[in-house]
Amino acid sequence: SSPLPIFSQDEVTKHSSLEHGVWVTYKGSVYDITEFVAMHPGGNKILLAAGGALEPFWALYAVHNQEHVLEILSQYKVGELTEDDLKKQRAAEPTDPFSSDPERHPVLRINTRKPFNGEPPPEILSDSYITPAAFFFKRNHLPVPQVDPASYRLQVEGLPGGGLTLSLEDLKTKFPKHTVTATLQCAGNRRSDMNKVKAVKGLNWGITAIGNARWSGARLRDVLLAAGFGPDVARWARHVHFEGLDKDVTGTPYGSSIPLSKAVSEEGDVLLAYEMNGEEIPRDHGFPVRVVVPGVVGARNVKWLGRVVVSAEESGSHWQQHDYKGFSPGTDWDHVDFKSAPAIQELPIQSAITVPADGAVIDRSDETLTVTGYAWSGGGREVVRVDVSLDGGETWQVAQLRSGEKGQAPEAPPPPGRAWAWKLWEITAPLPPEAQELEIVCKAVDSSYNVQPDTVPPIWNLRGLLSNAWHRVTVRVRD
Ligand code: HEM
Ligand code: MTE
Repeated sequence: SSPLPIFSQDEVTKHSSLEHGVWVTYKGSVYDITEFVAMHPGGNKILLAAGGALEPFWALYAVHNQEHVLEILSQYKVGELTEDDLKKQRAAEPTDPFSSDPERHPVLRINTRKPFNGEPPPEILSDSYITPAAFFFKRNHLPVPQVDPASYRLQVEGLPGGGLTLSLEDLKTKFPKHTVTATLQCAGNRRSDMNKVKAVKGLNWGITAIGNARWSGARLRDVLLAAGFGPDVARWARHVHFEGLDKDVTGTPYGSSIPLSKAVSEEGDVLLAYEMNGEEIPRDHGFPVRVVVPGVVGARNVKWLGRVVVSAEESGSHWQQHDYKGFSPGTDWDHVDFKSAPAIQELPIQSAITVPADGAVIDRSDETLTVTGYAWSGGGREVVRVDVSLDGGETWQVAQLRSGEKGQAPEAPPPPGRAWAWKLWEITAPLPPEAQELEIVCKAVDSSYNVQPDTVPPIWNLRGLLSNAWHRVTVRVRD
């Protein structure tokens, strides 16, 4: 076959729009991706790279760091870039936007390094009722912003009276400090169980994209009242938006919103938190201020909070409108209409087995088996029971629930409807005689008597969210 043509950067630059064709370069090759633009899972953002190099954009979006993405790209190759232009491009390449990210504990299982997404080993997670920050899962969409606490300002907008600007000191001194123990779970927790049924799009989280911490800060309610919230505003306002200080290549911040009713309710316990487990919030978890929305999906708990806006509308953010929504198992990427589904807020009942691990080998001489795990439900619904089976769901036993560290007094029971924290559970049962293999299953029940579905296929969805089927691990018994 004849060699592909060689193009100059000027020639590539001429193809910077759908009208004139969309060309990009990657590692010195030239691609005509005009036809791919409409099919891009990441949407129109792809046009930002039109006429130039993909590298600076892909440096921010680690999803592209996969074999199947390069395969797609290779189909559109039309030529090579001149040596000279390639050299110029390399010289101009930006420094790594993740170079100032904080250090992380080496025990975390890394999903993606840039942005950093990692979760702890299950047996470490269930070791403590309050998850130490180092072991708390980290879910970042973008580089961790560097925020100077002295010049940090929180903007509160959308209220009559022109808004309010608060320093970190203001938040700490002008409002009562309130502490809440709340579990945070990513909507993608246990996505790997969905991936096993049929491939989904997203980070392949195991069972530990969840953690429980003691958060302290000002109540959002108190801040909104100080900023002019009152009955007049309640007549038209419906949502409260949050914007992070982390920004994507277009300068758009991470953002989300929650219903106003949750934000201003005394029972909602929504915090503008500046402490996690009694210490300042670590950078990965939102230093210096993050929103903590107890009972609500992780995605709405905006870190590095820069702006709070009271509004009649939901947030227009990508993460509110085009992600973090649930769909039917029958909906595929060709037919999905994100407008047709509500944004996930409260999460459904969840539980998982942290010990033993899937595939573990147990000695028959042990005679008994101890199984441990966590259980949690969204919306402040309390976990009232966890059932465990050692025979794939034929017979069941009730596990013991715990709301505190092992061997210590449990936390005071929450008022009804405000059970924001998970429960750890444990059961020790005799090993069934003669069994060579055990399928251990757990399922939880919350205070509304919601239960988990027994299998994944009926709740499978293209984004792999809300994965809460009975958790199953198989262990072998060794004689
Ligand atoms: C996601 C391909 C350029 C932003 C994806 C995915 C593919 C893809 C296959 C889905 C990956 C997965 O989840 O497994 C491509 C190709 C490109 C390109 C072939 C160039 C020819 C860009 C550019 C940007 C971008 C230039 C940003 C300026 C995104 C984002 C997502 C994404 C934000 C994630 C969407 C989500 O999480 O739902 N891209 N992409 N892409 N892409 Fe691209
Ligand atoms: N806030 C900002 N500003 N940027 C983010 O990428 N990720 C969200 C949420 N808040 C995110 C954010 C998601 S999807 C989750 S699950 C939680 O933060 C994770 O919080 P953690 O990293 O403290 O565990």
